[in-house]
Amino acid sequence: MSVSKSDRRPRGEKARVLVVDDEADIRELLDLTLARMGLSADCAATVAEAKKYLEREHYGLCLTDMRLPDGEGLDIVRLIGAQYGETPVAVITAFGSADNAVAALKAGAFDYLAKPVALDQLRSLIKSALNLPLRGDLSVAAATTDGMAGQLIGDSPSIATAREMIGKLARSQAPVYISGESGSGKELAARLIHRQSARHGAPFVPVNCGAIPENLMESEFFGYRKGAFTGADSDRDGFFQAANGGTLFLDEVADLPLAMQVKLLRAIQEKRVRKVGFATEDPVDVRIVSATHRKLKDCVDAGNFRQDLYYRLNVIELKMPSLRERQEDIPLLIETLLARICGDRPPPELSVEAMRALGAYSYPGNVRELENILERAWALCAGGKVLLDDLQLAAESAVEGGAGHDGETLDDHMNRVERQLILEALAKTGFNRTAAARLLGVTFRSLRYRIERLGIEE
Ligand SMILES: Nc1ncnc2c1ncn2[C@@H]1O[C@H](COP(=O)(O)OP(=O)(O)OP(=O)(O)O)[C@@H](O)[C@H]1O
Ligand SMILES: [Mg+2]
Repeated sequence: MSVSKSDRRPRGEKARVLVVDDEADIRELLDLTLARMGLSADCAATVAEAKKYLEREHYGLCLTDMRLPDGEGLDIVRLIGAQYGETPVAVITAFGSADNAVAALKAGAFDYLAKPVALDQLRSLIKSALNLPLRGDLSVAAATTDGMAGQLIGDSPSIATAREMIGKLARSQAPVYISGESGSGKELAARLIHRQSARHGAPFVPVNCGAIPENLMESEFFGYRKGAFTGADSDRDGFFQAANGGTLFLDEVADLPLAMQVKLLRAIQEKRVRKVGFATEDPVDVRIVSATHRKLKDCVDAGNFRQDLYYRLNVIELKMPSLRERQEDIPLLIETLLARICGDRPPPELSVEAMRALGAYSYPGNVRELENILERAWALCAGGKVLLDDLQLAAESAVEGGAGHDGETLDDHMNRVERQLILEALAKTGFNRTAAARLLGVTFRSLRYRIERLGIEE
């Protein structure tokens, strides 16, 4: 159930906050902090009391403790999610109970604070929560700007699901892990989450984790102090400080070296970072969105990615569908991308064969590959018509893995394959050439000739 328009507090009017905690001291601290920010609060000590308040009032934010005398903070998170979807809930967790925080975020909490509550963090959380666009506004914005640059193009069920998920994720501070094949729109999705969130006024900072030299990682991420190392001739901010108040996008996160993973985990958990060369830590308020085209779980299983960091980053997963899974979107993508490529000039027409080939192609490089194909076709085509040849699709797929890859000639490639098959057959038959020849479907003489030609030694 969602709140109807008439129940909404008009913009500009200060929202009320519901505080739920069984400790009177904490209730007072929160109430006081809110009052200093010009906000009024209702305080409840139990789940039952909180329910009563929720029935009577509409709240701009709910802050709840995790452990309550008659239930859990999670009960409140779920209740609000089901019945008062407009209200963001943040939970306050006991020191060192990271699992609790993750559970709350998964259940739909907007954010969490660890005890003892740091006032600066509390204030920025409150500001973010109250700054959230209303759900209604969001869908209107999405509908009117759809189809424009920077939007997800497509009407297929899988892209509709992704779009809906992005809208939900924008209303949360939970870390998001975006998975999907290369070129499937992971970075685009990360930007959309940021743009639709309360953080949209602050920077979106994308970082390609695979592109930073290992010895510079710490200073690039956390900044440094003048004189911290040779070449550090002034104080510098890192990615975390640059993204303060906004979103830090960790692209190709699986490429982070293990030593850096530990430091990153700490920064995310503590919401604090220490510049290289400084003794003290500074609070930072960044939302972490990460992505890889690899399977992060496999990296964990192989021991290349820390499990604790994995759980921290992958609180909520957003899967970007491959273009193969949403082939019905291809015509719309072609039309929109061509219009974008051609700018103010009229886009070319596509021949029936070209259109058919584009519809049947497998797109290992997804939307980016389709973009490249269309750009090339636009450059190559004559007379305002794209023909099958202009697409150069065959050339594209031959490069994938097979001959022509890494400068390998066709002969080299064939020899490599032949050698491999013969070795396998010999291994299977205990180096019995007669049996191996039978297995390969060639004569004994032919096999002996090939073994000599390829220089295979027994
Ligand atoms: N659904 C979509 N609608 C419109 N454009 C899209 C869509 N998906 C991807 N694109 C475009 O395709 C290109 C590649 O997208 P993006 O960089 O987000 O992919 P990625 O998943 O991050 O790729 P990689 O794994 O290679 O980093 C971009 O130009 C992006 O704008
Ligand atoms: Mg990318």
